[in-house]
Amino acid sequence: MSVILEPLHPRYQASYPALTRQWLQDAIGDVLARIDAMLPRFSHTFPAASAEHGRYLPVAKVDWTEGFWTGLLWLAWEVTGAEKYRQAAETLLDSFAQRLDQQIKVDTHDLGFLYLLSCVNAWKLTANQPARELALRAAGLLYRRFDHTAGVIQAWGDLTDPARQGRMIIDCNLNLPLLFWAANETGNLQWRQAATRHLQQAARYLVRSDASTFHTFYMDIHSGQPLRGDTHQGFSDDSCWSRGQAWGIYGFALGFNYTGDTRLPELARKLSHYFLNRLPEDYICYWDLIFTPQDHALRDTSAAAIAVCGLSELLRQLPLSDTLRPAYQHAISMMMRNLHQHYFVREEDGLLREGVYNYGRNMGINQPNLWGDYFYFEALVRLSRIWTPYW
Ligand code: GLY
Repeated sequence: MSVILEPLHPRYQASYPALTRQWLQDAIGDVLARIDAMLPRFSHTFPAASAEHGRYLPVAKVDWTEGFWTGLLWLAWEVTGAEKYRQAAETLLDSFAQRLDQQIKVDTHDLGFLYLLSCVNAWKLTANQPARELALRAAGLLYRRFDHTAGVIQAWGDLTDPARQGRMIIDCNLNLPLLFWAANETGNLQWRQAATRHLQQAARYLVRSDASTFHTFYMDIHSGQPLRGDTHQGFSDDSCWSRGQAWGIYGFALGFNYTGDTRLPELARKLSHYFLNRLPEDYICYWDLIFTPQDHALRDTSAAAIAVCGLSELLRQLPLSDTLRPAYQHAISMMMRNLHQHYFVREEDGLLREGVYNYGRNMGINQPNLWGDYFYFEALVRLSRIWTPYW
């Protein structure tokens, strides 16, 4: 199936204020102040997925989001060198070990989010051998979710549950780097092949011909044939969930780093144009790209932060002569400026206000969430230095 590249809206050709070194330093300072305010409460436990009434409560039972807190701590350590962040991140490693030992909530593809941002980064940054071992164990569990006939990693739930078998979701693009990384570490070709195959299936079936994305797609695990796309967190099955599109932009770009497949950055580019062309005046997306200003829908700031990281990764991959580079820089600059100026939390917990976790299930609506916080900080770090991704 061919996927179109929409021409970018002319506004991306206009001049824009660049993100200066001083601006980035100040924005990072603001982030560190918020992390410092939370650190005493979260050095032995994790914040919940999203904040309520201006506070993150300690997570009641582990979920898919704990890695974003350790990810924030490692980013803080990278930019400051302050041992308090590293100590807390290392203390929290026990919880990731316990999770594997006791098989707590590991029946999920989200092992990538969890172990890339707690263990792979600890290994990359400090050569922490036990963290490397944990990440490899998590990769083994992720591989177990790969169905050879369908060619996809099952997103959620028990592998024998017919209602969940053969279901891939766009979010998984960010989990695949765990499998690719582990394959590179160990030389395990099966892990590499599974991740590559899933990426190909995601490109083929989760992306629609207009460069929007389904949130989820079912494959028949008996015949390997495609069944249908639908949504879990978007507005409707045929709309385009903003965060899903952002996972797609970033994840396909990351896939290029591991496969060298030059079609992937081009696909990320197409998804980006679809995303950027549907942003409101202030460049911060509504929680589904179906909405227009007349709908008065809520924003999802977390999707904006993920998209910035994806565009930044794409810029690392595109030739310097690519004529659209200034347009992508424009988009990044305006999204980051507006996130900082209009959506940054000043006194309360978290970093970004106005995220939407799951609108349909009434979860984390119009609240900070931990992944929005993480990707906002990652974006600032990416923009302020040469940074080796945790992904
Ligand atoms: N991966 C789940 C979410 O984006 O909400």
